[in-house]
This record gives sequence, structure tokens and C-alpha cells, in this order.
Amino acid sequence: MKLVAVLGSSREGSKSKAVAQRIIDSAKAKGAQVEIYEIDKMNLKGCVGCGSCRKNGTDCVLNDDMKDYFKSLHSCDSLLITAPNYYSMPAGQMITFMNRHYCLTNADRTQRLRPGIRLAAVFAQGAPQDYPKYVPHYDWYLSTFTGKGMELVGSITVGGDSDISENGEIMTKAEEIGCALGSI
Ligand SMILES: Cc1cc2nc3c(=O)[nH]c(=O)nc-3n(C[C@H](O)[C@H](O)[C@H](O)COP(=O)(O)O)c2cc1C
Repeated sequence: MKLVAVLGSSREGSKSKAVAQRIIDSAKAKGAQVEIYEIDKMNLKGCVGCGSCRKNGTDCVLNDDMKDYFKSLHSCDSLLITAPNYYSMPAGQMITFMNRHYCLTNADRTQRLRPGIRLAAVFAQGAPQDYPKYVPHYDWYLSTFTGKGMELVGSITVGGDSDISENGEIMTKAEEIGCALGSI
């Protein structure tokens, strides 16, 4: 049972990372092996639209750290993604990351990824947790992943007003999501 976690913020005091850590710990307690990718430590190029993936039915040909990530993704059971909200959207580095998943759909629209990979997400924003304006943005972001056959098991939005203490509502949900991601 393998969980791949892609952390969109490694900022000192990052809230999305703190919640992701609880999900990771919970998945590990269920026996999951975890591979972590910190986006700000990755050599990450933007999709250049060369079309090579669609022409040849391969993963992206760009030579950067996404090569390792795609290997992890093809062999994982669960994927956790986190993103800070910058200017109303998941931050640019995480949109660059998301764009690179283009290579996982073939020219005939079939998917190259094994179906049923469990997906979870954590978004962090300065606005209050129940601020409605960003909900469609997060849904749009996740639709790229569910569109490739992943199954969303849970998503957490951490607001500027959220309680992320150990036994609070957010961390309790994180614990549950980690259990779901880490279970056989
Ligand atoms: C460049 C920048 C732009 C931001 N824009 C927004 C925004 O439009 N809406 C919002 O609610 N919060 C915004 N924030 C606040 C972050 O989303 C917030 O600090 C969040 O906790 C960041 O995630 P992290 O704690 O995981 O790093 C912005 C922060 C930065 C640095």
C-alpha cells in the first residue's frame, strides 16, 4: 500500500503541510509506505505542449523531477495533494504540477493511469474556512485528477480562522482521510 504526497507549501508554519502531516501519519499507522514530494524542492518545468506524450502514448518527455513522480504515481494506491491559495487559486507551482498530468490521457481519450487511485487534497487559504468563492476553484483543480480515473476520498479546506489543534475538527478529519488513504 503506497501513498504519494505532493506538498504545495513548505513555508515555515505552513497550515496545509501541518494538516497533510496528520494525514500522512495516519496513513503510516495503517501500514502505508509514503513517498513525499515537496514542490519547492523539485526541479519542475512547465508543460511545453510538444504533444509527444499523446503522439507516442508515453509519460512526459521533459527531463525533470516529474519523471520520478510519474514512476511513483503509476505504482501508488493513493495520492495526497496540498496547495496554498494564492490570488484565489491553488498556487501557481501547483497549477504547473497539475498541467503536467496532460500526458496521462491518450490521444483516443483513454487513460494511461490505473483507475481507482484514491485522492485527497488539502487547500489552505487566508480567508475564512467557509468562504464560498474558492470552492469552484478547488473543484476545478481536482477535476483534472478525478478526470484521470482517481477517486476523491476527501478534501480539507483550511481557512485563516480554522482550528488546527490536535483534537479539533480539521485534524480529526485529516486522521480519517489518512485512514482511508492508508487502508488496503
Ligand atoms: C502571494 C499570496 C497570495 C495570497 N492570496 C490569497 C487569496 O487570494 N485568498 C486567500 O484567502 N488567501 C491568500 N493568501 C494567503 C494564503 O493562502 C494563506 O497564508 C495560506 O495559509 C497559505 O498556505 P500554507 O499555510 O500552507 O502555506 C495569499 C498568500 C500569498 C503569499
